[in-house]
Amino acid sequence: MNLPLFWPSAAIQNDLKAYVMHFKLQPGGTLKGEARVPGDKSISHRAIMLGALAEGTSRVNGFLEGEDALATLAAFRAMGVEIEGPDNGNVTVHGVGLHGLKAPAHPLDLGNAGTGMRLLCGLLAGQPFDSELTGDASLCSRPMGRVIDPLTKMGASIGSAEGGRPPLKIRGGQQLQGIHYDLPMASAQVKSCCLLAGLYSRGRTSVTEPAPTRDHTERMLRGFGYTVDSNGAEIALHGGGRLQACDIEVPADISSATFFLVGASIAPGSDLLLQHVGINPTRIGVINILRLMGADITLQQEREVGGEPVADIRVRYAPLRGIEIPLDQVPLAIDEFPALFIAAACAEGRTVLHGAEELRVKESDRIAAMAEGLSTLGVSNEVLDDGIIIDGGDMGGGVIATYNDHRIAMSFAIAALRASGEITVQDCDHVATSFPGFDTLARRLGLSISAVAG
Ligand code: S3P
Repeated sequence: MNLPLFWPSAAIQNDLKAYVMHFKLQPGGTLKGEARVPGDKSISHRAIMLGALAEGTSRVNGFLEGEDALATLAAFRAMGVEIEGPDNGNVTVHGVGLHGLKAPAHPLDLGNAGTGMRLLCGLLAGQPFDSELTGDASLCSRPMGRVIDPLTKMGASIGSAEGGRPPLKIRGGQQLQGIHYDLPMASAQVKSCCLLAGLYSRGRTSVTEPAPTRDHTERMLRGFGYTVDSNGAEIALHGGGRLQACDIEVPADISSATFFLVGASIAPGSDLLLQHVGINPTRIGVINILRLMGADITLQQEREVGGEPVADIRVRYAPLRGIEIPLDQVPLAIDEFPALFIAAACAEGRTVLHGAEELRVKESDRIAAMAEGLSTLGVSNEVLDDGIIIDGGDMGGGVIATYNDHRIAMSFAIAALRASGEITVQDCDHVATSFPGFDTLARRLGLSISAVAG
C-alpha cells in the first residue's frame, strides 16, 4: 500500500480548516483599464450538460473554470462522459447521446451550485439508473421542492431530506410523461429542469413563466439542433429527439462584470472597458437599472456568438441617484442585486426594491446579508419581506460577514472604492465558485485589495 508522505492529524486538519481567506480593502481608488471577466456560469453548466448528451464531440471555449461549473463537469465524468480539459477555458466533451449516461458509483456532489443541482435533477429523473445529488452546507439548505413538484407530476420518483432539501435521491427507470407546468416563481432553473426532463418524456412538455427569465437552455438546445417552441410566456418541446454536437463560445459573465460596472460607476475618475460580455436580453437588468440611476454605460461592438449576443461594455464614473427599481427588471437582474445595493448606497436619495423575495433563497439570504453589511458600514436601510429600502450616504469601514456567499463578498469588496475606512470582508473562499482570480483582476484595475488568511 502507498502511504501518503504526510497525512495531517485530525487536529491539524481542523486547524487547516480554520484558515479561511478574507479580503482586506483600503478605502478609495479608481478603476481603469480593460479586462475580460471569466466565462458565464449559467452557460458553462449548460455547455457541459448538453455537450454530454449530444451525439458527437463538442468544443467549448471561454468555459468558466470556477468551482460551480467544475462540479457539473465532474458529475458528468462520474457518469462515464469523457471530457478533456479545462485548459485555459477550452473543454472538449465527447457526447454519449441522450441515452448514453452510466450510473455514477457515488453521490454526485454539486458543491455550492443550485444550477448544477436543479438542472441535473431534471436530467436524472429520466435515466434508467438511480442517483443521488448532494452539495455543500449552503446548497443543502436550499429549497428543491420547486423542482421535485413538477418532476413528480411528470412521473419521477425523488426523495429528499426534510423540507425538500438535498440530498436528493432519484429513482431511475421511471417513464416520464410530458405535462404543462405553470411556474409558481420566475426561475430559469425550474424552467430548465422541466425542459431537460421533457427530453426524456412521452409527448409534449411545456412551461409558462410568470416573468421572462434567462433563456440559455432554450437557445442552447436549439444550437444543438433540438426544436423548442417559444410562444409568449410558454416554452415547449417534445421528448424523444436527439442532440447534435456543436461548438460553444461562452461569453464573459455579465454577473461577474457587474462588480466592475458598479465599481466604476461609484468611483470618481473611473473608466473601464469590459470585453466580450454576454448581453442576452434576459440578463441585462443590471445595465437597465444602473442607467436608470444615471450610470454612464455604453455598449460597443455588439455581435452574436453561438446564439448569444455579446458586447464590449464601457463604463465611466457618473453620479448615481436612487430609484424605485421597476418590477419587470427584477428577474433580469436577480443575481446582481448585492452589487446594485452598493450602487444604491452610493447614490443620492432613496432606492426601493420590491418583488425580490427570491433573493432570500440564494446562496445566502441576500437581503438579510446585505442589510447587515450595509448597516455595519453605516448605510441606512430597511429590510422588507420582498426587498429593501436603501438611503444613499457616506460609507465607513468595518468587518463584513459574507455568509459564505460569493456575491456578498465581491459586493462589499467593491464598496471600498467609496468607503472612508478599511473594510475586511470575511470568508471569501466561495468567490472561487463564480469568479476565480477576482482579487487579482480587481487589484490590476485599481482596487486596493489583498487576500489574507484568517
Ligand atoms: C440560474 C438561474 C437563477 C440564477 C442562478 C443561475 C440559471 O436562479 O439566480 O444564479 O443558470 O438558470 P433561479 O432559477 O433560482 O432564479
